[in-house]
Amino acid sequence: MLIYQTESVEQTQRVAKALGSMVQPGDLICLSGDLGAGKTTFTQGLACGLGVEEPVSSPTFTIIKEYDEGRIPLYHMDIYRLGERAAEEELGLDDYFFGAGVSVVEWAEWLEEVLPADRVQVMLQNLSAEGRKITFTATGPRSEARLKELNEACPTSR
Ligand SMILES: Nc1ncnc2c1ncn2[C@@H]1O[C@H](COP(=O)(O)OP(=O)(O)OP(=O)(O)O)[C@@H](O)[C@H]1O
Ligand SMILES: [Mg+2]
Repeated sequence: MLIYQTESVEQTQRVAKALGSMVQPGDLICLSGDLGAGKTTFTQGLACGLGVEEPVSSPTFTIIKEYDEGRIPLYHMDIYRLGERAAEEELGLDDYFFGAGVSVVEWAEWLEEVLPADRVQVMLQNLSAEGRKITFTATGPRSEARLKELNEACPTSR
């Protein structure tokens, strides 16, 4: 487990950007946390680390948005609109999860049952207006390797 405390959008995006520079095809990054916790903000930083220059916005109404201009494709999904029954929908998400890019999923907890087992879980929590606690958890060897690398690139103060 890896825990960061950030005090600004820039600090959150710095960590996300570092992760974006290391992710590999087939990686899955699951973002959870309250409305406004910073899931989309984090995704913007990750996109920056991939080399995506197009502005990244929340795909709430389209569910999924693909960005192809970076080192590998970014599949940005936002499950919020589907709500708690998201896992029951036929979304064809496996094409993305097992595709050539990295999948980043906001509100991933609602897809729990249909997600590949090995993923980086990112929990964002509000500490104050600009303070955030970001907890990274790995659930398998692939995600474990990514967090080890992230820890080396962005050491936490604790
Ligand atoms: N340290 C911080 N890290 C991330 N965001 C921050 C931070 N401090 C303030 N913010 C602000 O918090 C908000 C986060 O919004 P964002 O859209 O990223 O949240 P979200 O988790 O994607 O919300 P939603 O559930 O609606 O999709 C932004 O307005 C951002 O400027
Ligand atoms: Mg969002």
